[in-house]
Amino acid sequence: MTIAVFGATGMVGSRVTKESRARGHRVLALSRKPANEDPDVTPVAVDVNDPRSVRQALAAPGSYGAADAVVLAVRTLPVDQDFLVGATRTVLDAAARLGARVLVVGGAGALRSPEEPGLLVADNPAYVPAELKSIAAAGVAQLRACQDRTDGDWAYLSPPALLEPGARTGRYRRGTDTMLTSTDGRSWISAEDLAVAAVDELEAPGSDRHFTVVHQGGEQWAPPADPRRRGEPEPVRPFGRLALSVRVPDTGLRGIVEA
Ligand SMILES: NC(=O)c1ccc[n+]([C@@H]2O[C@H](COP(=O)([O-])OP(=O)(O)OC[C@H]3O[C@@H](n4cnc5c(N)ncnc54)[C@H](OP(=O)(O)O)[C@@H]3O)[C@@H](O)[C@H]2O)c1
Repeated sequence: MTIAVFGATGMVGSRVTKESRARGHRVLALSRKPANEDPDVTPVAVDVNDPRSVRQALAAPGSYGAADAVVLAVRTLPVDQDFLVGATRTVLDAAARLGARVLVVGGAGALRSPEEPGLLVADNPAYVPAELKSIAAAGVAQLRACQDRTDGDWAYLSPPALLEPGARTGRYRRGTDTMLTSTDGRSWISAEDLAVAAVDELEAPGSDRHFTVVHQGGEQWAPPADPRRRGEPEPVRPFGRLALSVRVPDTGLRGIVEA
């Protein structure tokens, strides 16, 4: 397959790119400031806000054929819901013209709360405090933008509460639209294993348009501790609250916003 990855320089997109290449797929690595580290990856500078550029990039007039599948893994800091919804519509439109499948890597906020299925994680203060609500709500709006479409082939992958760089185990547990918890009691997965699930979905689409995945136990790996919590007693969090890793613009540094 030729897989177009929007956000290929990001935490998720870079791992989807690597996983896709490891399985022998061709990759169009799309972002505004593309990196060019792998000779087998074609970097393309494109602003996902620009419908014409997006159409051109997916049609891949170079040596590759048009994209067979598209992964959308973009975000802005601070969150911009209009950008996210607009970008999603633009990519869904362009992909539908080509008959390409789209996998949107969205937010955990769009999932149902495990203990209260009628309540979205985004609306549940047990997971999302007021200061993170706009981030979670943007993910919900992005899912709605997908669901509004009557045409096109898309799936929306909600990560668990915590998604951070880590180990590739090649294993994960898959669910539908309710937040999952790993056997260690936390809702988390490494970005590497999320990428495994993403490429699995492109290669063999599941039956659920909205699905989630979680770490499948076995080995010990813990996400980096939040330094703000040093010295504080660890609060009881049966499922783990939403944690959002953020990249500090133009520095490449990454931190965790956790409530
Ligand atoms: N627990 C959770 O729910 C959770 C946790 C983490 C991430 N996520 C989700 O996972 C997805 C990916 O997040 P991430 O952490 O990988 O993001 P990230 O590391 O911040 O990377 C964002 C990517 O988007 C690209 N981008 C931003 N604006 C763009 C534009 N106008 N046109 C083209 N590309 C643009 C950036 O590249 P350029 O700057 O070069 O354009 C970069 O490659 C997002 O939907 C995020 O919300 C969810």
